[in-house]
Order: sequence, then structure tokens, then C-alpha cells
Amino acid sequence: MIGVVRKGRRRAAAGVLLLVLLLCAGCSGDDGAAAVAEKTLAVTPPRPILRWMGPAFVRPVDRELVARCGKEVGIAIELLPAPANPVDRLGLYLQFLPAESDDIDLIDFDVVWSGTLAPHLLDLNPQLTAEERGQYFPIYLENNSVGEALVGLPQMGDVGLLYYRTDLLEKYGFEGPPDTWSELEEMAAVIQEGERGDNAEFWGYVWQGNVYEGLTVNALEWQASMGGGLIVDAEGRLALDDIAAGALDRAAAWVGEISPEAVTVFQEEDARWQFQNGNAAFMRNWPYAYGLGQAEDSPVRDRFGVTRMPKGDGAEARHASVVGGQQIGVSRYSRYKDAAADAAVCLTDARAQRRRALADGTPPGIAVLYGDEDVQARIPAAAQIAESLAEHAVARPAAMTSGHYTEISLVYFIEVNRVLTGEQDGANAVARVAEQVAAWVE
Ligand code: GLC
Repeated sequence: MIGVVRKGRRRAAAGVLLLVLLLCAGCSGDDGAAAVAEKTLAVTPPRPILRWMGPAFVRPVDRELVARCGKEVGIAIELLPAPANPVDRLGLYLQFLPAESDDIDLIDFDVVWSGTLAPHLLDLNPQLTAEERGQYFPIYLENNSVGEALVGLPQMGDVGLLYYRTDLLEKYGFEGPPDTWSELEEMAAVIQEGERGDNAEFWGYVWQGNVYEGLTVNALEWQASMGGGLIVDAEGRLALDDIAAGALDRAAAWVGEISPEAVTVFQEEDARWQFQNGNAAFMRNWPYAYGLGQAEDSPVRDRFGVTRMPKGDGAEARHASVVGGQQIGVSRYSRYKDAAADAAVCLTDARAQRRRALADGTPPGIAVLYGDEDVQARIPAAAQIAESLAEHAVARPAAMTSGHYTEISLVYFIEVNRVLTGEQDGANAVARVAEQVAAWVE
């Protein structure tokens, strides 16, 4: 890793200096050693540079933005490679940030780490104009605000969507995609029964049920959409109720009926594989799956659409889509805080996000860009993504759990997965989660 190599180089320089000093221990007087040391330091003057531990997979547009923003803020930005696995990435951050290392100025982090990383990140509020702040979807400002501090800015928009097969809805006489979970259950069952004759692999609805963060995402969407609480409320108080328990039971009933048994080990790519190969009527996934589903060789090319996630049936029911995506934060230990904050804005502002959208089809985290015709042409699902980000978005309880989100989510997805596999019911899961997270919530 470049960061380590650099550190190594700096250490090597210090080593040379030490050697010079030792060799000169017998030299005549201290002046000689000091002169050599001075000379050694003089040949390696510190050059201001901002180091960004950015995207795991660096694309040409990242290099383009880094070059432009470096020029704009007046300090070159160096892009450092980072672990692709989000847990490894967090582990790395939790090594150098608590050590107050000034090696890294800017970091990318998943929405769920806002509370955990907050003690080490600069409050960007004072660094932003009202206009700069106001350009981002409010859900990201909410997610990234820990207490009064705004600890990150979104680079993109990521939100749960319901994928559906347009051809199959038509074939089975459905006028449009489901608006409620009841409609989804009915349509999925009808289509599955009809398709099974020719295709034994076919299932009604695929999603993410594995024991991991993606299950927290799915389960919170069930709970919120049916009017239940999201583990904790905005004040950080425990908010698991009967509705939440009922939502988990309802999803568990899909397993083996309209969803494959294997959905309990599915992550995003497993669901996409099933849907894209033409083996599912509906899928919950992020926007990235859209472009891949439209690839030249995709069996479902031009045969699917996306819409908001279904809602429950009760009076409290609503459409609920969990938000995700990468944020940029500025280390409190940066030597160049103002420049780094300016760089964070430059790398995430409307101009940057428009470039990302046009270059790679990355959905923006900025509302106004969804009205841009070029963005609309590049991202066919732009209208649905914008609607979900603006109206149905739900944040995971990362900001108000005092840095304990990781543990809370871990407990939660383990217990939810046990509901899906039939080991316990929703009420048991809710009680067990409440018991285990008690130490971290009010
Ligand atoms: C996506 C989201 C991220 C979420 C993850 C869960 O990568 O952007 O926020 O935590 O999926 O699998």
C-alpha cells in the first residue's frame, strides 16, 4: 500500500539521519553532525499533499477529479488504494485515526460508519456555504450529522429499489408493479406458478438474507414500510415493537414460498444473478444492478423496470428505501484541514457528481442533477432513484448510536437471519435484540 511505502520511506530517511548522527559520534564536535543532518533534511523538503483513501476500485473519472480538485484547492491530491471489503477498510481507519496520524487527510466511508468515525472527523458545517450544504439530498445530511457535526459528504446516491420484470407482468395480466407487499406477494406467487412449468429455477422474489449488513438493510425496509421502528429512534432509544416483529415474520414466510430457501445466504450479487438470468419476477437491489441488467448479453435486457419499494397495509405504512453509499470525511488530524475540507466539497459537488454520472452511470447524491438531461440519458432509472432518495429514504441508525452501530447491526442481522431460517419467530428476535443491545442504547 502506497501509504505504508511512504511511511517506510520517511522512516528510511530518519534511519539515514540516525546513522549519520551515530557515525559522527566520534567526529570533532557536534557541529559536524548537525551540519550533515541539516543537509540530509534539506534534500527532502516536505511537499504539501492531500492524501485521500478513496474508492477501492479507482476509475479514470476518479483520477480526473483528483487532478482538477487538487488544482482548485491549491494542494495536489494523492489517491491511496483502500481495502475493498468495508469491514477491512473500517479496521484500517480504526488503526490510524485513534493514533491521530496525519498521514491521511480524506477518507471514504460507508454511510453506516458516520457515528463510529465521528470522533475523528472534522465538522464540515463551518466549512460549507449554505448553498454547498443544501445541494445534497437531506437524507445524507441527516445520516452524516452526528450531534451538531456534519462528518461526511455523499459522493453518490444509493438507495433500495424494487426491480420487476415488465414482460412477465404483462404476460400474467398485471397492469403495473406492486405498490404494497400484499400485491407483491400475490403477483410473485402467480408468476412463479406460471413460470415453474418451463423453469424449475424460477422464483417470485429475491433479496438479501445472508448474515451481513445487507440483511440489516432489507429488514429495516420491511419494518419501516410496515410502520415499525428501526432498532433505535432518532434520539438513540430502543424502538423495536410488535410491528417490527410482525414484519420479520412476514418476510420469513416468503422463504421457500415466493423466495428460494437459499435467499437466507444471498447477498446483492446472488440476487442479481438469479434475476438477471431470468429466474425471478422481482428483486430488491441497489441502482448498480440496473446497468448490469441492461448489458448487451443480459437475458433480461429491456425486460425489466424499477420502482420504489412496496409499502405495508396498515395506516402507518409507507414506502421505505434504505440509503447507502460512500461518503467523504476529513480527518481531524490533517495538517491541511481547510484545503482538505475544500477538497471534500470539490470531490462531491454537483460538478463532480455530474462527471461521475456521465462517466460511469453513478447515481448522484444531489437532487438537482436528476433534472439534467444528460444525466437522465445516462441513468435510465434516474426518476425512480431520485423519487426514492427524496421521498422514501430511510437511514440506518448509524449517527445516533454513539459509535456502536457495528455491534448493534451485527446482533440484529444474526437474530433476523434466525427468523428467516425458522429457528425463532419475530417476537423472539426483537426481544433478543433488545436484550443484547441494551448496553449501547437508552
Ligand atoms: C451497498 C450500500 C452500503 C451498504 C451495503 C450493504 O454497498 O451502498 O451502504 O452498507 O450495500 O450490503
